[in-house]
Amino acid sequence: MGVWQSEEFDKHEQVCFFSDEATNLRAIVAIHSTTRGPAAGGTRFKSYASDDMALDDALRLSRAMSYKSALAGLPVGGGKAVIIGDPRELKSRELLLAFGRFIDRIGNVFATGEDVGFSVADVETMFEVTPYVGGMSKGAGDPSIHTATGVLHGLRAVAEFRLGRKSFEGVKVAVQGLGSVGWRVARQLHEAGAELIVADIDPEKVTKAQNDFHALTMETDEIHAAQADIFCPCALGGVITMTTAPQIRAHAVAGAANNQLASPEAGAMLAQRNILFAPDYVINAGGVISGVEAMQNMPGRKKIDMAPLEDLLESIYGRLLEIFVRSEKENRTPEAIAQMIAQELIREQPLEEYA
Ligand code: NAI
Repeated sequence: MGVWQSEEFDKHEQVCFFSDEATNLRAIVAIHSTTRGPAAGGTRFKSYASDDMALDDALRLSRAMSYKSALAGLPVGGGKAVIIGDPRELKSRELLLAFGRFIDRIGNVFATGEDVGFSVADVETMFEVTPYVGGMSKGAGDPSIHTATGVLHGLRAVAEFRLGRKSFEGVKVAVQGLGSVGWRVARQLHEAGAELIVADIDPEKVTKAQNDFHALTMETDEIHAAQADIFCPCALGGVITMTTAPQIRAHAVAGAANNQLASPEAGAMLAQRNILFAPDYVINAGGVISGVEAMQNMPGRKKIDMAPLEDLLESIYGRLLEIFVRSEKENRTPEAIAQMIAQELIREQPLEEYA
């Protein structure tokens, strides 16, 4: 299968294939859209069963980044990079520098950062050879802090729209995954008076949540079915499947994890069961939002006046409410509405000339 035939192609502007024999680097960079600004998206370093699957992943994730940035109101387009192979075997300083030089060659229209299999330290190595990287330890700082804040704003919209609640006092939230984002979400919910049920594969985190937040606990493969108001996935993608969707007892699913719906059918099943779903790329946009200033400071880019970070994060609340209201009115799933709004925003004229 070729690029043009891929189901995920969806009018991508540019797709680059890079290889470096000396380091065994094979990488794909997909740039879906630069209509709203230079594209941004992390680098995923992983093994794939086939090259076609790597290409599909790059294209799918790149389009998702276009949607995420557009819905967050950012002057940023969507792109993504994929390095093919097991990072534990393949990753070397030389490979990272070779990849950095390729990213530099793309120039002003793309910047990348961390993702699965690709750390902040890797990004900092690339910075030795290209300025087109973001999410380093200096700058806006750990993106997960801002992702968690954004998720809280999103949860406010969910509580208001689906539960008719203006505060989290007494609201029961089941949090799956107590990592960088999930822990912060749990802590802020606890501080706001929510009752927590938690699960993590790391028993230490679970014990700490019991002590610090008086949280109840469940097994990791059962928490989706918790008797809660909101199920908040903050661990893995693909947790809402045709098997788990019928088991969910919460009134809403809203959390940080990427790609929570294993399939569109699983999303439709939630809607049929009157379970509100907050599209993940809307509610988890805080990390991308926090990186936008650094992106604008890259060489050859024009600075566009943006609202302060806190306001941008808070706008996740309004955007989700807009999606929920339209979804109810138009009798379509929230993810279908989110996609439609994103496509409208991407088709619009550029926000401003950016470079
Ligand atoms: P993390 O790696 O810090 O935390 C993940 C947590 O989930 C860990 O505590 C891990 O032990 C736990 N976990 C793993 N498998 C589990 C399972 N089967 N059941 C329950 N817990 C399990 O990751 P982070 O940064 O907190 O991200 C969480 C999710 O949010 C991921 O899906 C990520 O892609 C997504 N996300 C994160 C952003 C960020 O700024 N960090 C931005 C946007 C999305």
